[in-house]
Amino acid sequence: MPVWFMRQAGRSFAEYRRLRDKHSMLELCRTPELAAEVTLQPVRRLGVDAAILFSDIVVPLAPMGVDVEIKEGVGPLIANPVRSERDVDKLRPLDPPTDVPYVLEAVKLLVGELDVPLIGFAGAPFTLASYMIEGRPSKDHARTKALMYSNPTVWHRLMDLLADAIVAYLRAQIEAGAAAVQLFDSWAGALDRDDYVAYVAPAVSRIFDGIQDLGAPRIYFGVTTGELLEAMAATGPDVIGVDWRVPLDAARGRLPGIPVQGNLDPAACLAPWDALEAKAVRVLERGGGRGHIFNLGHGVLPETDPATLARLVDLVHRWRPHAG
Ligand code: CP3
Repeated sequence: MPVWFMRQAGRSFAEYRRLRDKHSMLELCRTPELAAEVTLQPVRRLGVDAAILFSDIVVPLAPMGVDVEIKEGVGPLIANPVRSERDVDKLRPLDPPTDVPYVLEAVKLLVGELDVPLIGFAGAPFTLASYMIEGRPSKDHARTKALMYSNPTVWHRLMDLLADAIVAYLRAQIEAGAAAVQLFDSWAGALDRDDYVAYVAPAVSRIFDGIQDLGAPRIYFGVTTGELLEAMAATGPDVIGVDWRVPLDAARGRLPGIPVQGNLDPAACLAPWDALEAKAVRVLERGGGRGHIFNLGHGVLPETDPATLARLVDLVHRWRPHAG
């Protein structure tokens, strides 16, 4: 059974924290050798079946004109939030080779060193728009929805502009050697199904259509998206990432023929081994073997002991579906 973990690189590793003492998060992302090193740390230590590029969803926004920093313990902060038609008009299209050469360089370095596939990624339009409009992490996404409802024309312009940037960005990562890509729509679960379908799904479909010819598997993930799974699948990804709230057998029932990825509660990795093992085995049983990629239901929590993740990888690798 294949396994990797969202946010497998980063704060749970002492060797990552040592690098972070010297460099900011965005510096790491913008220095190919350092981004590659951080990407490799969990591959060496955990025995996972895939690497995920070390970067952040906000990295491609800076060259588009978004003044972004990442604040420790908080997340992305944006000094010039996008709140009006003029703000949207000021955003520039993304040209990956000139705007984010360091990302493509990191991908190339990694492909030369890895003996497992490299997963590239991008943030999805709604999730990126939420940071751009709110200016900071938000629980209710109120300003984002206010723009969406009050000015659908400008909203759709922003979604299309982000979709174009994301297509260019993911294509460049795949062309540089990424074997698969994941689109992180972490906050799409804040929307009801009608709004997701009307305001977000068209841009997401454009992204999956726009990279299909390259043949790299396309994974689509969000949190609290139980009510959106069918609508998300209809946008055209190859794999759907599911958070821990939806049992995988239920998810599979609702997504016939589509492989699923997930979905152990990341907090279970902080539990005593016996409790963690029992929960992981439930995930494996409900995933049903074929057509399941084991992962957490969201990112690794910083408090997680890498030794626990390594033991979990071993458990997943040794697990076999029951006969019959
Ligand atoms: O998965 C991986 O190992 C690859 C690295 C990765 C990061 N961010 C590194 C990171 C990936 C895939 C992301 C994506 C990302 N970034 C998402 C989508 C995935 C998700 O978790 O829902 C989102 C919503 C963001 C925005 C963001 N950036 C948040 C919410 C935070 C965390 C804030 C905090 O400190 O708790 C960041 C910063 C960030 N991105 C860190 C890392 C390792 C922490 C940086 C640090 O201080 O060292």
